[in-house]
Amino acid sequence: MSSADFSPAAAALQRSAAELLMQRLDIFAGHTDQPGTITRLYLSRAHREAAATLTRWMAAAGMNAAIDPIGNVVGRYEGTEPNAPTLLIGSHIDTVRDAGRYDGNLGVLAGLTCVEEFAKAGKRFPFAIEVIAFGDEEGVRFPSALTGSRAMAGEFDSNVLDGCDESGVSLREALIAFGCDPLRIGAVARRPQDMIAYIELHIEQGPLLEASHAPIGVVTAISGANRFEVDVIGTAGHAGTTPMNMRADALTGAAEMILAIEALARATPTLVGTVGKIEAPTGSVNVVPGEARFTIDLRAPTDDARERASEVLAAELSMIADRRGLRMNLKQTYQAFATSCDARIVAALSRCVTRAGLDLQLLPSGAGHDAMAVARLCPIGMLFVRCAGGLSHSPAESITVEDASCALGVLMDFVSSLDERTFRRPEPYLDNVLARP
Ligand code: HGY
Ligand code: MN
Ligand code: MN
Repeated sequence: MSSADFSPAAAALQRSAAELLMQRLDIFAGHTDQPGTITRLYLSRAHREAAATLTRWMAAAGMNAAIDPIGNVVGRYEGTEPNAPTLLIGSHIDTVRDAGRYDGNLGVLAGLTCVEEFAKAGKRFPFAIEVIAFGDEEGVRFPSALTGSRAMAGEFDSNVLDGCDESGVSLREALIAFGCDPLRIGAVARRPQDMIAYIELHIEQGPLLEASHAPIGVVTAISGANRFEVDVIGTAGHAGTTPMNMRADALTGAAEMILAIEALARATPTLVGTVGKIEAPTGSVNVVPGEARFTIDLRAPTDDARERASEVLAAELSMIADRRGLRMNLKQTYQAFATSCDARIVAALSRCVTRAGLDLQLLPSGAGHDAMAVARLCPIGMLFVRCAGGLSHSPAESITVEDASCALGVLMDFVSSLDERTFRRPEPYLDNVLARP
């Protein structure tokens, strides 16, 4: 199947490739840490199983496949020129808890499927292709996120090695148990001059494509995000004997703070704020909570909006704490800057969408992606696939084989028509981001 080949034979090939892709996604869904759900945390048993399956599929597709020192799976398909630059196609294979089967996994297995189709057709390019399965985009197990993609971009922060999961296992210990070598993480970093671009195919995780009756869309930019852990400290007391006006209740204080976060996000256009986890670590049914802990996820298309909201929020939460006689500790655990896709990749993907006879939909991404980290290494582009009801981070996540086939066709056309000389320096689609020191 070659680029811009829309003959019935090519369409049939594309369709059967999409069917194989959907079958593989179903097989992949079986690699879970929590039977009955799709839960695949970074460096877990399920991650190891999925990495083994992927490595096998990559090798059978004619790629050299291996797991790198930070747990990414990398499959390489050589080009016609020995020292040719490399096109990266990737996404992540870790998931949130009780996830859907397409978030991340679709982009990795679609990359594999593309290379497999090229290999079957005996097609090679004047550049190499690497399919990357990043191991930690979600940041669910450890406090950090984008770990594998940041390492590849040469921006790994070794402090995160001391971060621990809920059972107290540090990232360093988990890497060693997985068979990785934390001392060799530096070797994961790529040189910008060896890269052409990075392309990530991903479900939209939102409702816009479905509302526009479009199977796929071209991403213009990715919202930035920061995450916080909030500790609220009050005074534990007896539930039966502590008068209401003499309480320093950490949990009701946290509840007021959480509603303040929601109110600020509702009142601020383009800002979204989420409290995904809350706990009273030492809670008991008959004790006034002395401690409460919750997380905050704050996002906006521009860094200014998000950073301004973070400041307003910090002030508001400490006012609530003071008024209630509580102490509050707000710790930022993660930050990813708003990131623009590369204008030339947006244009090239748009041409491929139009060549496929599809209406062109350009849209921003409210969700974060490994592409944000890889943008620090080379120009990036993203292709979105419609998902039913815009649902994601849920077992209800679903796409159709028809849309998967459209996406495969556009991705293969992009690769086949790529002129690697055009990407010699970043050209942000939106000039308000990426121009950071
Ligand atoms: O949270 C996100 O946006 C992504 O799914 N990790
Ligand atoms: Mn996700
Ligand atoms: Mn994702």
